[in-house]
Amino acid sequence: MFLAPDDATEFLMSGKVIALPTETVYGLAAIATNPSAVARIFEIKKRPQDNPLICHFHSIDQIKKYVTNIPAATEKLINHFSPGPISFMFDLPGDSPLKFATCGSGQLVARIPDHPLFLNIIKKTNLPIAAPSANTSGKVSPTSPAMVLLDLDGRIDGIVDGGRCSVGLESTIVDARNDDEIFILRQGTIGADELQIILPKSKITAAAETGENVIPGTKYRHYAPNTPIILVEKLTEVDKNSALLLTEEAFRNLSHEWIGNLSDANVQIVLLGSIENINDFASKFYEKISSVDLLNVSTAFFLRTEFGNSSLGKALQERIEKITGAS
Ligand code: TXA
Ligand code: MG
Repeated sequence: MFLAPDDATEFLMSGKVIALPTETVYGLAAIATNPSAVARIFEIKKRPQDNPLICHFHSIDQIKKYVTNIPAATEKLINHFSPGPISFMFDLPGDSPLKFATCGSGQLVARIPDHPLFLNIIKKTNLPIAAPSANTSGKVSPTSPAMVLLDLDGRIDGIVDGGRCSVGLESTIVDARNDDEIFILRQGTIGADELQIILPKSKITAAAETGENVIPGTKYRHYAPNTPIILVEKLTEVDKNSALLLTEEAFRNLSHEWIGNLSDANVQIVLLGSIENINDFASKFYEKISSVDLLNVSTAFFLRTEFGNSSLGKALQERIEKITGAS
């Protein structure tokens, strides 16, 4: 059921679980301090009970009310990047009303989302809102209402239509509790290069790359559509009667002969967009990846592509490796 933002606020206040748009991906939202609503998020997503929920706030002042302290480096980063596609780890006091949302871990991952609809809803409830990505655990994060409904229709109490998400990849997760060493726990649009500008003296470690200090969510297979997608180096590795995911640049490089071969082998080509405009590419990426499930093929292939060294390029590379099971 599509909800107007005011109805969404009332639904949340009465303990319901609804899908809300953010600038990154759609979230499956409930009031984070309501234990039964939080339990329903786990149930709807079929999420493992040891995988804590990210919580959303409208301001740093609101976060302050729930955490033991705002570390200095975290405060600098929040002042610079929030609201935006970046989440931070905090310590919680012993008896926190967020203990259900955070699986009793003692830590909180919090984000101030940059989406006017969601931000207004948080301001109206004036309560933290738990909202992991609005997909069944292990599936691709949804970046449009249609993607949410394809996966969760009938299991959620409603959805607010905010159109397509402008960023399209999940937020960067940062542990900046210690000034000396900052850990990137999940890569996203904002990466080490951007953080280093704000914190020139801190060492910035991409834990997501080293495999140390990993967040629970990265233990599980992630972001995959139902159709297996296999990473290939060469077109000769592509099977008959399959789908082939290509960037526009890779497609333009195909010879006439190869276009003929693929067509003879009944390979359906899915164009992912141009990486020259990497922001636009990222915003449509999950939708395109999921579209292979509609093609009626048993396998899809992705031809290896270099996404470059920008933070967003690295985040896309990481998602591709997860999707194809290459990491
Ligand atoms: O962009 C985003 O972050 C989106 C939107 C909706 O805000 N949310 C999102 O949530 O991607 P989710 O649950 O799909 O991913 C959050 C990740 C998970 O891997 C989870 O394990 C980790 O954050 N996480 C959340 N709370 C945590 C905590 N207290 N301690 C450690 N890891 C945590
Ligand atoms: Mg997720």
